[in-house]
Amino acid sequence: MNVLIIGATSAIAKAAARQYAARGECLFLIARDDKRLQEMSEDLVVRGADSVNSASLDLLQHDQHSQAIDEAASVLGTIDIALVCHGSLPDQEQAENDFAAAEKALDINGLSVISLVTALAATMKLQGNGKIAVVTSVAGDRGRQPNFVYGAAKAMVSTYLQGLRGKLLPHGVQVIDIRPGLVDSPMTAHLEKGALFSSPETVAAKIVKSIDGNRHTVYAPGYWRLIMLVVKSIPEAIFKRLKF
Ligand SMILES: NC(=O)c1ccc[n+]([C@@H]2O[C@H](COP(=O)([O-])OP(=O)(O)OC[C@H]3O[C@@H](n4cnc5c(N)ncnc54)[C@H](OP(=O)(O)O)[C@@H]3O)[C@@H](O)[C@H]2O)c1
Repeated sequence: MNVLIIGATSAIAKAAARQYAARGECLFLIARDDKRLQEMSEDLVVRGADSVNSASLDLLQHDQHSQAIDEAASVLGTIDIALVCHGSLPDQEQAENDFAAAEKALDINGLSVISLVTALAATMKLQGNGKIAVVTSVAGDRGRQPNFVYGAAKAMVSTYLQGLRGKLLPHGVQVIDIRPGLVDSPMTAHLEKGALFSSPETVAAKIVKSIDGNRHTVYAPGYWRLIMLVVKSIPEAIFKRLKF
Protein backbone atom coordinates (compact mmCIF):
# COMPACT_ATOMS: atom_id res chain seq x y z
CA MET A 1 0.00 0.00 0.00
CA ASN A 2 1.04 3.59 -0.63
CA VAL A 3 0.95 5.80 2.42
CA LEU A 4 1.36 9.59 2.56
CA ILE A 5 2.17 10.99 5.99
CA ILE A 6 1.90 14.74 6.56
CA GLY A 7 3.55 16.17 9.66
CA ALA A 8 5.72 13.07 9.45
CA THR A 9 8.28 14.14 12.04
CA SER A 10 5.67 14.40 14.79
CA ALA A 11 6.06 11.76 17.50
CA ILE A 12 2.71 10.14 16.69
CA ALA A 13 3.29 10.16 12.92
CA LYS A 14 6.79 8.77 13.37
CA ALA A 15 5.44 5.86 15.41
CA ALA A 16 2.77 5.20 12.77
CA ALA A 17 5.37 5.38 9.98
CA ARG A 18 7.44 2.73 11.75
CA GLN A 19 4.43 0.42 11.86
CA TYR A 20 3.76 0.95 8.15
CA ALA A 21 7.47 0.39 7.40
CA ALA A 22 7.40 -2.92 9.28
CA ARG A 23 4.55 -3.97 6.96
CA GLY A 24 6.67 -3.15 3.92
CA GLU A 25 4.52 -0.25 2.68
CA CYS A 26 5.64 2.51 0.26
CA LEU A 27 5.87 5.81 2.12
CA PHE A 28 5.90 9.48 1.18
CA LEU A 29 6.65 11.86 4.04
CA ILE A 30 5.95 15.58 4.28
CA ALA A 31 7.32 17.73 7.12
CA ARG A 32 9.16 21.02 7.43
CA ASP A 33 12.58 19.82 8.64
CA ASP A 34 14.55 18.40 5.74
CA LYS A 35 17.39 16.97 7.83
CA ARG A 36 15.02 15.07 10.15
CA LEU A 37 13.07 13.85 7.13
CA GLN A 38 16.24 12.38 5.64
CA GLU A 39 17.20 10.67 8.90
CA MET A 40 13.68 9.32 9.31
CA SER A 41 13.58 8.05 5.71
CA GLU A 42 16.82 6.10 6.18
CA ASP A 43 15.53 4.61 9.42
CA LEU A 44 12.23 3.55 7.81
CA VAL A 45 14.04 1.78 4.97
CA VAL A 46 16.07 -0.18 7.54
CA ARG A 47 12.79 -1.04 9.29
CA GLY A 48 11.39 -2.62 6.13
CA ALA A 49 9.61 0.07 4.10
CA ASP A 50 9.40 -0.83 0.42
CA SER A 51 10.33 2.74 -0.50
CA VAL A 52 10.49 6.08 1.28
CA ASN A 53 10.34 9.46 -0.44
CA SER A 54 9.85 12.85 1.14
CA ALA A 55 9.30 16.55 0.59
CA SER A 56 9.90 19.39 3.02
CA LEU A 57 7.25 22.05 3.45
CA ASP A 58 6.19 24.58 6.04
CA LEU A 59 2.52 23.59 6.24
CA LEU A 60 1.45 27.19 6.87
CA GLN A 61 2.14 27.75 3.16
CA HIS A 62 -1.32 26.83 1.95
CA ASP A 63 -0.55 27.79 -1.63
CA GLN A 64 1.99 24.94 -1.79
CA HIS A 65 -0.38 22.21 -0.59
CA SER A 66 -1.87 21.10 -3.93
CA GLN A 67 1.56 20.89 -5.48
CA ALA A 68 2.87 18.82 -2.56
CA ILE A 69 -0.06 16.37 -2.79
CA ASP A 70 0.40 16.15 -6.58
CA GLU A 71 4.09 15.37 -6.08
CA ALA A 72 3.26 12.64 -3.55
CA ALA A 73 0.62 11.16 -5.87
CA SER A 74 2.98 11.15 -8.81
CA VAL A 75 5.77 9.44 -6.83
CA LEU A 76 3.45 6.90 -5.15
CA GLY A 77 1.23 6.28 -8.19
CA THR A 78 -1.90 6.28 -6.05
CA ILE A 79 -2.33 7.50 -2.48
CA ASP A 80 -4.09 4.66 -0.68
CA ILE A 81 -3.79 6.26 2.76
CA ALA A 82 -3.11 9.85 3.75
CA LEU A 83 -2.43 10.51 7.42
CA VAL A 84 -2.48 14.20 8.42
CA CYS A 85 -0.69 14.56 11.75
CA HIS A 86 0.81 18.00 12.33
CA GLY A 87 -0.16 20.58 14.91
CA SER A 88 0.95 22.88 17.67
CA LEU A 89 -0.30 23.48 21.20
CA PRO A 90 -0.36 27.26 21.73
CA ASP A 91 0.06 29.10 24.99
CA GLN A 92 -3.62 29.52 25.86
CA GLU A 93 -3.18 32.79 27.80
CA GLN A 94 -1.21 34.34 24.96
CA ALA A 95 -3.61 33.13 22.28
CA GLU A 96 -6.56 34.45 24.27
CA ASN A 97 -5.08 37.92 24.59
CA ASP A 98 -3.23 38.36 21.30
CA PHE A 99 -5.24 37.57 18.20
CA ALA A 100 -2.08 37.16 16.09
CA ALA A 101 -1.11 34.19 18.29
CA ALA A 102 -4.66 32.78 18.13
CA GLU A 103 -4.69 33.18 14.35
CA LYS A 104 -1.45 31.23 14.00
CA ALA A 105 -2.77 28.44 16.23
CA LEU A 106 -6.07 28.31 14.34
CA ASP A 107 -4.13 28.16 11.09
CA ILE A 108 -1.69 25.37 11.92
CA ASN A 109 -4.28 23.25 13.77
CA GLY A 110 -7.29 24.13 11.62
CA LEU A 111 -7.02 25.96 8.30
CA SER A 112 -3.82 24.28 7.12
CA VAL A 113 -5.42 20.88 7.78
CA ILE A 114 -8.56 21.81 5.84
CA SER A 115 -6.44 23.11 2.98
CA LEU A 116 -4.51 19.82 2.82
CA VAL A 117 -7.68 17.75 3.10
CA THR A 118 -9.20 19.75 0.22
CA ALA A 119 -6.25 18.81 -2.01
CA LEU A 120 -6.33 15.19 -0.81
CA ALA A 121 -10.08 14.91 -1.45
CA ALA A 122 -9.64 16.13 -5.03
CA THR A 123 -6.86 13.61 -5.68
CA MET A 124 -8.72 10.69 -4.11
CA LYS A 125 -11.97 11.53 -5.93
CA LEU A 126 -10.07 11.23 -9.19
CA GLN A 127 -8.55 7.94 -8.05
CA GLY A 128 -11.99 6.66 -7.01
CA ASN A 129 -10.59 5.31 -3.73
CA GLY A 130 -8.43 6.12 -0.74
CA LYS A 131 -8.53 6.87 2.96
CA ILE A 132 -7.97 10.28 4.54
CA ALA A 133 -7.12 10.03 8.24
CA VAL A 134 -6.74 13.23 10.24
CA VAL A 135 -5.42 13.50 13.77
CA THR A 136 -7.66 15.97 15.60
CA SER A 137 -8.07 15.83 19.41
CA VAL A 138 -10.48 15.24 22.27
CA ALA A 139 -9.86 18.96 22.90
CA GLY A 140 -12.30 19.63 20.04
CA ASP A 141 -15.16 17.89 21.85
CA ARG A 142 -15.78 20.74 24.30
CA GLY A 143 -14.23 24.17 24.82
CA ARG A 144 -12.32 23.93 28.08
CA GLN A 145 -10.67 26.91 29.79
CA PRO A 146 -7.04 25.67 29.54
CA ASN A 147 -7.02 25.01 25.79
CA PHE A 148 -10.04 26.37 23.94
CA VAL A 149 -8.12 28.09 21.14
CA TYR A 150 -6.45 24.80 20.19
CA GLY A 151 -9.76 23.00 20.84
CA ALA A 152 -11.66 25.40 18.57
CA ALA A 153 -9.31 24.62 15.68
CA LYS A 154 -9.65 20.87 16.26
CA ALA A 155 -13.45 21.17 16.48
CA MET A 156 -13.48 23.04 13.18
CA VAL A 157 -11.57 20.20 11.52
CA SER A 158 -13.78 17.49 13.07
CA THR A 159 -16.94 19.25 11.86
CA TYR A 160 -15.42 19.68 8.42
CA LEU A 161 -14.52 16.00 8.26
CA GLN A 162 -18.05 15.00 9.29
CA GLY A 163 -19.52 16.77 6.27
CA LEU A 164 -16.77 15.73 3.89
CA ARG A 165 -17.17 12.07 4.89
CA GLY A 166 -20.64 11.95 3.36
CA LYS A 167 -19.59 13.89 0.26
CA LEU A 168 -16.76 11.48 -0.46
CA LEU A 169 -18.74 8.31 0.28
CA PRO A 170 -20.04 7.87 -3.30
CA HIS A 171 -16.47 8.33 -4.55
CA GLY A 172 -15.11 5.38 -2.57
CA VAL A 173 -13.08 7.62 -0.26
CA GLN A 174 -13.14 7.03 3.52
CA VAL A 175 -12.60 9.86 6.01
CA ILE A 176 -11.36 9.02 9.50
CA ASP A 177 -11.23 11.48 12.40
CA ILE A 178 -8.74 10.35 15.04
CA ARG A 179 -9.10 12.02 18.42
CA PRO A 180 -6.22 11.24 20.78
CA GLY A 181 -6.37 12.11 24.45
CA LEU A 182 -3.19 13.08 26.27
CA VAL A 183 -0.04 11.81 24.54
CA ASP A 184 3.52 11.98 25.85
CA SER A 185 5.15 13.79 22.92
CA PRO A 186 7.20 16.98 22.36
CA MET A 187 3.89 18.86 22.19
CA THR A 188 3.16 18.06 25.84
CA ALA A 189 6.78 18.07 27.09
CA HIS A 190 5.99 21.01 29.42
CA LEU A 191 3.03 19.25 31.09
CA GLU A 192 3.24 17.12 34.19
CA LYS A 193 2.55 13.50 33.18
CA GLY A 194 -0.19 11.45 34.82
CA ALA A 195 -2.01 8.14 34.40
CA LEU A 196 -4.07 9.40 31.46
CA PHE A 197 -1.02 9.95 29.24
CA SER A 198 -0.40 7.41 26.45
CA SER A 199 2.70 6.78 24.41
CA PRO A 200 2.87 7.82 20.75
CA GLU A 201 3.31 4.09 19.93
CA THR A 202 0.00 3.17 21.61
CA VAL A 203 -1.85 5.92 19.77
CA ALA A 204 -0.14 5.05 16.49
CA ALA A 205 -1.19 1.40 16.81
CA LYS A 206 -4.79 2.53 17.23
CA ILE A 207 -4.47 4.85 14.23
CA VAL A 208 -3.08 2.13 11.95
CA LYS A 209 -5.75 -0.37 13.08
CA SER A 210 -8.56 2.16 12.61
CA ILE A 211 -7.39 3.06 9.12
CA ASP A 212 -7.29 -0.64 8.22
CA GLY A 213 -10.84 -1.02 9.49
CA ASN A 214 -14.00 0.74 8.45
CA ARG A 215 -13.93 3.41 11.16
CA HIS A 216 -14.97 7.07 11.01
CA THR A 217 -14.47 8.66 14.46
CA VAL A 218 -11.85 7.11 16.66
CA TYR A 219 -10.78 7.94 20.21
CA ALA A 220 -7.21 6.95 21.03
CA PRO A 221 -7.00 5.16 23.40
CA GLY A 222 -10.66 4.10 23.23
CA TYR A 223 -11.46 5.00 26.86
CA TRP A 224 -11.33 8.68 25.89
CA ARG A 225 -14.73 8.22 24.23
CA LEU A 226 -16.19 7.53 27.67
CA ILE A 227 -14.24 10.35 29.34
CA MET A 228 -15.44 12.83 26.75
CA LEU A 229 -19.01 11.54 27.01
CA VAL A 230 -18.87 12.47 30.69
CA VAL A 231 -17.20 15.83 29.96
CA LYS A 232 -19.81 16.66 27.29
CA SER A 233 -22.68 15.73 29.62
CA ILE A 234 -21.72 18.25 32.33
CA PRO A 235 -24.37 21.01 32.33
CA GLU A 236 -22.98 24.30 31.02
CA ALA A 237 -24.01 26.10 34.24
CA ILE A 238 -21.49 23.90 36.09
CA PHE A 239 -19.00 23.46 33.25
CA LYS A 240 -18.38 27.20 32.90
CA ARG A 241 -16.98 27.24 36.46
CA LEU A 242 -14.54 24.36 35.88
CA LYS A 243 -10.89 25.26 35.39
CA PHE A 244 -9.61 21.90 34.13
N1 LIG B 1 0.37 15.20 22.30
C1 LIG B 1 -0.90 15.20 22.62
O1 LIG B 1 -1.28 15.12 23.82
C2 LIG B 1 -1.95 15.24 21.54
C3 LIG B 1 -3.29 15.04 21.92
C4 LIG B 1 -4.28 15.07 20.95
C5 LIG B 1 -3.93 15.33 19.64
N2 LIG B 1 -2.63 15.53 19.29
C6 LIG B 1 -2.34 15.81 17.89
O2 LIG B 1 -1.47 14.83 17.39
C7 LIG B 1 -0.74 15.37 16.27
C8 LIG B 1 0.73 15.06 16.44
O3 LIG B 1 1.23 15.71 17.61
P1 LIG B 1 2.32 15.07 18.55
O4 LIG B 1 1.69 14.85 19.85
O5 LIG B 1 2.97 13.92 17.86
O6 LIG B 1 3.31 16.26 18.78
P2 LIG B 1 4.69 16.71 18.09
O7 LIG B 1 5.66 15.59 18.10
O8 LIG B 1 5.07 17.99 18.75
O9 LIG B 1 4.26 16.96 16.58
C9 LIG B 1 3.75 18.16 16.08
C10 LIG B 1 4.26 18.25 14.67
O10 LIG B 1 3.66 19.32 13.96
C11 LIG B 1 4.67 19.87 13.12
N3 LIG B 1 4.42 21.24 12.74
C12 LIG B 1 4.06 22.28 13.55
N4 LIG B 1 3.97 23.40 12.80
C13 LIG B 1 4.30 23.06 11.54
C14 LIG B 1 4.41 23.77 10.32
N5 LIG B 1 4.16 25.08 10.25
N6 LIG B 1 4.78 23.10 9.21
C15 LIG B 1 5.05 21.78 9.25
N7 LIG B 1 4.97 21.04 10.37
C16 LIG B 1 4.60 21.69 11.50
C17 LIG B 1 5.94 19.81 13.97
O11 LIG B 1 7.04 19.91 13.12
P3 LIG B 1 8.56 19.94 13.70
O12 LIG B 1 8.84 18.50 14.05
O13 LIG B 1 9.36 20.43 12.56
O14 LIG B 1 8.52 20.86 14.88
C18 LIG B 1 5.79 18.45 14.64
O15 LIG B 1 6.36 17.43 13.85
C19 LIG B 1 -1.09 16.87 16.24
O16 LIG B 1 -2.14 17.08 15.32
C20 LIG B 1 -1.62 17.12 17.64
O17 LIG B 1 -2.48 18.24 17.70
C21 LIG B 1 -1.64 15.49 20.22
